[in-house]
Amino acid sequence: MPILHVNVDHVATVREARKTIEPDPVYAALQAEQAGASGITVHLREDRRHIQDRDLRLIRELAQTRVNFEMAATDEMVRIALDINPAIVTLVPEKREEVTTEGGLDCISQSGLLKSKISDLKNAGIRVSLFIDPDFKQIDMAREVGADDIELHTGEYANAKTDLEKEDQLIRLEKAAMHGHDIGLQINAGHGLTYFNVEPIATLPHIEELNIGHSIIARSIYVGIQQAVREMMELIYC
Ligand code: PXP
Repeated sequence: MPILHVNVDHVATVREARKTIEPDPVYAALQAEQAGASGITVHLREDRRHIQDRDLRLIRELAQTRVNFEMAATDEMVRIALDINPAIVTLVPEKREEVTTEGGLDCISQSGLLKSKISDLKNAGIRVSLFIDPDFKQIDMAREVGADDIELHTGEYANAKTDLEKEDQLIRLEKAAMHGHDIGLQINAGHGLTYFNVEPIATLPHIEELNIGHSIIARSIYVGIQQAVREMMELIYC
Protein backbone atom coordinates (compact mmCIF):
# COMPACT_ATOMS: atom_id res chain seq x y z
CA MET A 1 0.00 0.00 0.00
CA PRO A 2 1.31 3.47 -0.79
CA ILE A 3 2.08 6.10 1.82
CA LEU A 4 0.38 9.50 1.79
CA HIS A 5 2.13 12.81 1.29
CA VAL A 6 -0.21 15.74 1.90
CA ASN A 7 0.25 18.75 -0.39
CA VAL A 8 -0.52 21.93 1.57
CA ASP A 9 -0.23 24.42 -1.33
CA HIS A 10 -3.91 25.26 -1.23
CA VAL A 11 -3.80 26.40 2.36
CA ALA A 12 -1.39 29.03 1.08
CA THR A 13 -3.74 29.74 -1.86
CA VAL A 14 -6.43 30.85 0.59
CA ARG A 15 -3.95 32.96 2.55
CA GLU A 16 -2.60 34.61 -0.59
CA ALA A 17 -6.14 35.49 -1.73
CA ARG A 18 -5.97 38.17 0.99
CA LYS A 19 -2.19 38.51 1.32
CA THR A 20 -2.59 37.98 5.03
CA ILE A 21 -1.12 35.56 7.60
CA GLU A 22 -3.89 32.96 7.76
CA PRO A 23 -4.47 30.12 7.18
CA ASP A 24 -0.87 29.00 7.63
CA PRO A 25 0.37 26.06 5.51
CA VAL A 26 3.07 25.40 8.12
CA TYR A 27 0.45 24.77 10.81
CA ALA A 28 -1.56 22.68 8.33
CA ALA A 29 1.50 20.57 7.55
CA LEU A 30 2.11 19.85 11.24
CA GLN A 31 -1.57 18.96 11.70
CA ALA A 32 -1.42 16.60 8.71
CA GLU A 33 1.57 14.87 10.28
CA GLN A 34 -0.27 14.58 13.59
CA ALA A 35 -3.05 12.76 11.73
CA GLY A 36 -0.55 10.24 10.34
CA ALA A 37 0.57 11.60 6.96
CA SER A 38 3.94 10.15 5.99
CA GLY A 39 5.18 13.30 4.29
CA ILE A 40 4.43 16.88 3.30
CA THR A 41 4.53 18.12 -0.28
CA VAL A 42 4.96 21.77 -1.21
CA HIS A 43 5.34 23.40 -4.59
CA LEU A 44 7.26 26.66 -4.53
CA ARG A 45 6.26 28.14 -7.87
CA GLU A 46 8.47 30.65 -9.63
CA ASP A 47 5.66 33.25 -9.39
CA ARG A 48 5.15 32.49 -5.63
CA ARG A 49 1.40 32.37 -6.16
CA HIS A 50 0.75 30.21 -3.11
CA ILE A 51 3.67 28.75 -1.13
CA GLN A 52 6.28 31.36 -0.13
CA ASP A 53 9.96 30.80 0.63
CA ARG A 54 9.24 31.23 4.33
CA ASP A 55 6.65 28.38 4.25
CA LEU A 56 9.08 25.97 2.64
CA ARG A 57 11.86 26.89 5.08
CA LEU A 58 9.66 26.49 8.16
CA ILE A 59 8.08 23.25 6.97
CA ARG A 60 11.53 21.82 6.32
CA GLU A 61 12.63 22.94 9.80
CA LEU A 62 9.57 21.75 11.72
CA ALA A 63 8.21 18.73 9.87
CA GLN A 64 9.07 15.41 11.46
CA THR A 65 8.29 13.41 8.30
CA ARG A 66 9.60 13.69 4.75
CA VAL A 67 9.40 16.94 2.82
CA ASN A 68 8.78 16.54 -0.89
CA PHE A 69 9.76 19.80 -2.59
CA GLU A 70 8.02 20.20 -5.95
CA MET A 71 9.81 22.64 -8.22
CA ALA A 72 10.66 23.64 -11.76
CA ALA A 73 14.09 22.62 -13.06
CA THR A 74 15.58 26.12 -12.80
CA ASP A 75 18.85 27.42 -11.34
CA GLU A 76 16.95 29.41 -8.70
CA MET A 77 14.97 26.40 -7.49
CA VAL A 78 18.01 24.11 -7.44
CA ARG A 79 19.79 26.71 -5.28
CA ILE A 80 16.85 26.72 -2.85
CA ALA A 81 16.70 22.91 -2.78
CA LEU A 82 20.42 22.64 -2.02
CA ASP A 83 19.96 25.15 0.76
CA ILE A 84 16.96 23.49 2.46
CA ASN A 85 17.97 19.88 1.67
CA PRO A 86 14.55 18.15 1.46
CA ALA A 87 14.20 14.35 1.47
CA ILE A 88 12.96 14.42 -2.09
CA VAL A 89 12.64 16.89 -4.95
CA THR A 90 9.94 16.33 -7.55
CA LEU A 91 10.67 18.17 -10.78
CA VAL A 92 7.52 19.46 -12.46
CA PRO A 93 6.80 21.52 -15.56
CA GLU A 94 5.63 25.04 -14.83
CA LYS A 95 3.77 27.58 -16.93
CA ARG A 96 2.81 30.94 -15.49
CA GLU A 97 -0.61 30.99 -17.15
CA GLU A 98 -1.76 27.57 -15.89
CA VAL A 99 -4.16 27.18 -12.93
CA THR A 100 -2.37 24.02 -11.78
CA THR A 101 0.33 21.71 -13.18
CA GLU A 102 -1.25 20.68 -16.45
CA GLY A 103 0.81 17.84 -17.85
CA GLY A 104 3.88 15.81 -17.08
CA LEU A 105 7.44 16.87 -17.86
CA ASP A 106 8.70 16.25 -21.36
CA CYS A 107 11.86 14.36 -20.40
CA ILE A 108 12.75 13.78 -24.03
CA SER A 109 12.97 17.38 -25.23
CA GLN A 110 14.47 18.51 -21.89
CA SER A 111 16.82 15.59 -21.31
CA GLY A 112 20.00 17.73 -21.17
CA LEU A 113 18.56 20.21 -18.68
CA LEU A 114 17.05 17.48 -16.50
CA LYS A 115 20.23 15.42 -16.46
CA SER A 116 22.25 18.37 -15.21
CA LYS A 117 19.73 19.47 -12.54
CA ILE A 118 19.20 15.88 -11.34
CA SER A 119 22.93 15.42 -11.03
CA ASP A 120 23.30 18.65 -8.97
CA LEU A 121 20.52 17.49 -6.62
CA LYS A 122 21.69 13.89 -6.31
CA ASN A 123 25.26 14.98 -5.61
CA ALA A 124 23.83 16.73 -2.54
CA GLY A 125 22.15 13.48 -1.45
CA ILE A 126 18.63 14.52 -2.48
CA ARG A 127 16.36 11.88 -4.02
CA VAL A 128 14.86 13.08 -7.31
CA SER A 129 11.47 12.25 -8.77
CA LEU A 130 10.09 13.35 -12.15
CA PHE A 131 6.39 14.11 -12.61
CA ILE A 132 5.51 12.49 -15.94
CA ASP A 133 2.61 11.15 -17.94
CA PRO A 134 2.18 7.35 -17.94
CA ASP A 135 4.08 7.00 -21.20
CA PHE A 136 6.76 4.34 -21.76
CA LYS A 137 9.08 6.68 -23.71
CA GLN A 138 8.97 9.27 -20.93
CA ILE A 139 9.56 6.58 -18.30
CA ASP A 140 12.60 5.23 -20.15
CA MET A 141 14.01 8.73 -20.50
CA ALA A 142 13.37 9.45 -16.80
CA ARG A 143 15.62 6.50 -16.02
CA GLU A 144 18.20 7.61 -18.53
CA VAL A 145 18.49 11.14 -17.12
CA GLY A 146 19.11 9.71 -13.65
CA ALA A 147 15.81 10.01 -11.75
CA ASP A 148 15.32 7.79 -8.70
CA ASP A 149 11.52 7.96 -8.82
CA ILE A 150 8.75 8.91 -11.18
CA GLU A 151 5.44 10.39 -10.11
CA LEU A 152 2.81 9.24 -12.57
CA HIS A 153 0.41 12.03 -13.51
CA THR A 154 -3.09 10.80 -12.63
CA GLY A 155 -4.84 13.89 -14.07
CA GLU A 156 -6.25 12.17 -17.16
CA TYR A 157 -7.62 9.35 -14.99
CA ALA A 158 -9.14 11.91 -12.61
CA ASN A 159 -10.72 13.87 -15.47
CA ALA A 160 -12.13 10.83 -17.31
CA LYS A 161 -15.80 11.41 -18.10
CA THR A 162 -16.98 7.81 -18.52
CA ASP A 163 -16.31 4.51 -16.73
CA LEU A 164 -14.75 3.15 -19.91
CA GLU A 165 -12.41 6.10 -20.22
CA LYS A 166 -11.51 5.76 -16.53
CA GLU A 167 -10.80 2.05 -16.97
CA ASP A 168 -8.55 2.78 -19.98
CA GLN A 169 -6.59 5.34 -17.97
CA LEU A 170 -6.27 2.92 -15.07
CA ILE A 171 -4.84 0.24 -17.37
CA ARG A 172 -2.44 2.81 -18.81
CA LEU A 173 -1.27 3.74 -15.31
CA GLU A 174 -0.92 0.09 -14.31
CA LYS A 175 1.25 -0.73 -17.35
CA ALA A 176 3.34 2.38 -16.72
CA ALA A 177 3.84 1.46 -13.05
CA MET A 178 4.91 -2.06 -13.97
CA HIS A 179 7.31 -0.85 -16.65
CA GLY A 180 8.85 1.81 -14.40
CA HIS A 181 9.32 -0.72 -11.62
CA ASP A 182 10.87 -3.23 -14.03
CA ILE A 183 13.54 -0.72 -15.05
CA GLY A 184 14.38 0.14 -11.44
CA LEU A 185 12.40 3.29 -10.69
CA GLN A 186 10.33 3.93 -7.55
CA ILE A 187 6.76 4.68 -8.59
CA ASN A 188 4.67 7.46 -7.06
CA ALA A 189 1.43 9.00 -8.30
CA GLY A 190 -0.68 12.09 -7.92
CA HIS A 191 -2.78 14.94 -9.25
CA GLY A 192 -6.55 15.19 -9.16
CA LEU A 193 -6.96 12.34 -6.67
CA THR A 194 -10.05 12.61 -4.46
CA TYR A 195 -12.02 10.63 -1.87
CA PHE A 196 -14.05 9.24 -4.78
CA ASN A 197 -11.31 8.11 -7.16
CA VAL A 198 -8.27 7.27 -5.00
CA GLU A 199 -8.98 3.60 -4.19
CA PRO A 200 -8.22 2.04 -7.62
CA ILE A 201 -4.97 4.04 -7.77
CA ALA A 202 -3.93 2.96 -4.26
CA THR A 203 -4.26 -0.69 -5.27
CA LEU A 204 -2.23 -0.47 -8.49
CA PRO A 205 0.98 -2.51 -8.35
CA HIS A 206 4.23 -0.85 -7.19
CA ILE A 207 2.76 2.53 -6.24
CA GLU A 208 4.74 3.66 -3.19
CA GLU A 209 3.65 7.25 -2.57
CA LEU A 210 0.56 9.30 -3.31
CA ASN A 211 0.72 13.10 -3.36
CA ILE A 212 -2.71 14.53 -2.65
CA GLY A 213 -3.58 18.16 -2.03
CA HIS A 214 -6.69 19.88 -3.27
CA SER A 215 -9.27 17.31 -2.22
CA ILE A 216 -7.89 16.96 1.32
CA ILE A 217 -7.59 20.71 1.85
CA ALA A 218 -11.10 21.23 0.44
CA ARG A 219 -12.55 18.62 2.82
CA SER A 220 -10.66 20.08 5.76
CA ILE A 221 -12.89 23.18 5.52
CA TYR A 222 -15.79 20.99 6.70
CA VAL A 223 -14.14 18.45 9.00
CA GLY A 224 -10.73 19.88 9.95
CA ILE A 225 -7.42 18.86 8.47
CA GLN A 226 -6.68 15.97 10.82
CA GLN A 227 -10.02 14.30 10.11
CA ALA A 228 -9.66 14.96 6.36
CA VAL A 229 -6.22 13.31 6.33
CA ARG A 230 -7.44 10.33 8.38
CA GLU A 231 -10.39 9.78 6.03
CA MET A 232 -8.07 9.77 3.01
CA MET A 233 -5.72 7.34 4.74
CA GLU A 234 -8.61 4.99 5.52
CA LEU A 235 -9.42 4.83 1.79
CA ILE A 236 -5.81 4.26 0.82
CA TYR A 237 -5.20 1.55 3.41
CA CYS A 238 -8.51 -0.35 3.32
N1 PXP B 1 1.67 15.99 -7.71
C1 PXP B 1 2.14 17.04 -8.42
C2 PXP B 1 3.42 16.88 -9.16
C3 PXP B 1 1.45 18.26 -8.44
O1 PXP B 1 1.94 19.30 -9.16
C4 PXP B 1 0.27 18.39 -7.69
C5 PXP B 1 -0.45 19.69 -7.66
O2 PXP B 1 0.32 20.65 -7.04
C6 PXP B 1 -0.17 17.28 -6.94
C7 PXP B 1 0.53 16.09 -6.99
C8 PXP B 1 -1.40 17.33 -6.10
O3 PXP B 1 -2.51 17.47 -6.92
P1 PXP B 1 -3.92 17.76 -6.26
O4 PXP B 1 -3.84 19.08 -5.59
O5 PXP B 1 -4.84 17.75 -7.44
O6 PXP B 1 -4.19 16.65 -5.29
